[in-house]
Amino acid sequence: MVPYRQGRTAAEDAFKLSSNENPYPPLPAVMIAISDASVNRYPEGSAAALRNRLGQRFGISAERVQVGAGSVAVLSQLISASSAPGDEVIFSWRSFEAYPLLVAASGATAVQVANTPDHRHDLDALAAAITERTRLVIVCSPNNPTSTIVTRDEFVAFMARVPESVLVVLDEAYTEFIIDESAVNGADLLDAYSNLVVLRTFSKAYGLAGLRIGYALGQEYVMDAARAVAIPLSVTDAAQRAAVVSLDNEAELLERVTALNAVREEIYNGLVAQGWQVPRPHGNFVWLPTADDTARAAEIFAANDIVTRPLVDGLRVSVGETESVEKLLKAAAEVVSLRQEAPPAPTLD
Ligand SMILES: Cc1ncc(COP(=O)(O)O)c(C=O)c1O
Repeated sequence: MVPYRQGRTAAEDAFKLSSNENPYPPLPAVMIAISDASVNRYPEGSAAALRNRLGQRFGISAERVQVGAGSVAVLSQLISASSAPGDEVIFSWRSFEAYPLLVAASGATAVQVANTPDHRHDLDALAAAITERTRLVIVCSPNNPTSTIVTRDEFVAFMARVPESVLVVLDEAYTEFIIDESAVNGADLLDAYSNLVVLRTFSKAYGLAGLRIGYALGQEYVMDAARAVAIPLSVTDAAQRAAVVSLDNEAELLERVTALNAVREEIYNGLVAQGWQVPRPHGNFVWLPTADDTARAAEIFAANDIVTRPLVDGLRVSVGETESVEKLLKAAAEVVSLRQEAPPAPTLD
């Protein structure tokens, strides 16, 4: 197994656009909540206050909410509770780098279904890949790293083809950044499907990545199964308090999301003007399909003080500070020139 690779850190004067983080500092109210947190005592293990709050917000009981040290922890719980050697877990590829690792750790087999040529989930192919061994399907919208969405209509048609005994985890880590009204919103569909689990996080729009806190919404017995395999007491008091205070101050946080979306638009328009064929971004990041030029492209961005996330076939660049845009677009233009100059790749007969 290859360990999870974190987005690179950045030198002091560079912009760290490698981990889809939120560039804004914590709200003063969050800092106060953290300083009030208990450190010498263990946290309240069930995160009752936060689960109650989230339950009220989504119109479900607190028992239908599971909180973890990041949504990735809750996903890990759902996979290990549902899947074992001989079972299959299906997800799109390319998608979030942690998926294959979590599935491998459970001993189950990962079944990867290729994205469409326009970097979106192929929901027909995902449904067609389900067998009697399938325990869980992960759908990611917006998809990390391609920033594309699944529409509500696509998701509803997909769910009609999924047997009720197969769990569907809709990973909506970046949902707050969506403005396209055709996008699926899992919280609206919780009562329609008993096998649906919606995964959300405080790491992105709410800017609490460093505190590690995320959650799942689903049927009570599914959340109970996740709780049964969770590492006890892993969600700190500071994280729980900060999450509640973030919900109290949601309007202010969502204004930041609106500002980040304006930066995203500026980046997207700039890239399109340079001739890039980037999928329209719906998360706080853009996907540059740089194929074989990815490593070189990442170097060019780094030379322009922009730290990106190079993957095998493309570069993911997070939406960050307004001041980063100029350097980002300058680097992107240099990559365009490089690719125009490059001789055509040799063909293999
Ligand atoms: C699609 C997706 N899901 C889940 C996560 C995990 O977020 P966290 O564990 O910080 O809640 C990430 C983080 O990058 C992500 O991109």
